[in-house]
Amino acid sequence: LVVVGEAPGADEDRAGRPFVGRAGKLLDQLLLSVGFPRESVYICNVLKCRPPNNRNPLPDEVQCCSPFLKSQLETIAPRAVLAVGTFPAQTLLNTTEPISRLRGKVHTYEGTPLVPTYHPAALLRNPTWIRPVWEDLQRLRAVLDA
Ligand code: URA
Repeated sequence: LVVVGEAPGADEDRAGRPFVGRAGKLLDQLLLSVGFPRESVYICNVLKCRPPNNRNPLPDEVQCCSPFLKSQLETIAPRAVLAVGTFPAQTLLNTTEPISRLRGKVHTYEGTPLVPTYHPAALLRNPTWIRPVWEDLQRLRAVLDA
């Protein structure tokens, strides 16, 4: 399983590792709840550098970084991809549809099942999204169990 997030935040920038802050702790718990310990998952981001002041990635930044993301996915050749948040879902699915419309079903990226869901940082702000995220993770589990 490969999990794709948006961009490093301040904690990740310091550590040089993805998802090590609060959102990362929640991501770890969510993944574990469907049977994926962190060590069993490859985690990366669309952007490889932190946008100043945690602003959203700009289109040209996504364009610059996405060849690296795509080659990571090609090299790892995962059995499934979990895209957390708008930017990874839109980048990999080449669409501008909002995450609220993309989530809830299994898509395909270059022949690999791709499950989009809300970003864990969004979950920290909006706990009512826990349930849809849980349902998306069940979808992911079913894909990998098939
Ligand atoms: N949010 C992300 O999208 N990626 C990280 O690595 C950390 C927080």
